[in-house]
Amino acid sequence: MKFALALAALSSLAFTGASKAQTADPSVGRRLAATLCVDCHRIDATTPPKDATSQAPSFVDVARLPSTNELAIKVFLRSSHSQMPNFILTPEEIDSVAAYIVSLAGTKRQEK
Ligand code: HEC
Repeated sequence: MKFALALAALSSLAFTGASKAQTADPSVGRRLAATLCVDCHRIDATTPPKDATSQAPSFVDVARLPSTNELAIKVFLRSSHSQMPNFILTPEEIDSVAAYIVSLAGTKRQEK
């Protein structure tokens, strides 16, 4: 009986672990940004875009816009843009990138 209870507790733990893997993870989002977005965007206070002439806004600045929240970024990444490539990201990746960008809002303003 005790064993069955422990097993139930364990399997519910395993279940939470599994569902957590599918939620937004800012560290995953950061890795995606460092791979996919850094060509054009300054992805944090210290990492400049590879293309120095890029007009794309810094993610720190994006995070600080009053209009920015995770939903707005998710909608943006699911729609198409004239100046930005359309990425094929999974919904989980989109959630993670959005969580990462939003997490930058408290970052000290970067030097331009
Ligand atoms: C080829 C260059 C390029 C790449 C790569 C790129 N962007 Fe952009 N991005 C732009 C430009 C230019 C703008 C500003 C014009 C616009 O809004 O379309 C922009 C705007 C944005 C905005 C809107 C900011 C606002 O004003 O609300 C977000 C959010 C954004 N990018 C996220 C991303 C993310 C996340 C990635 C990586 C998955 C990415 N971008 C990759 C060029 C790029």
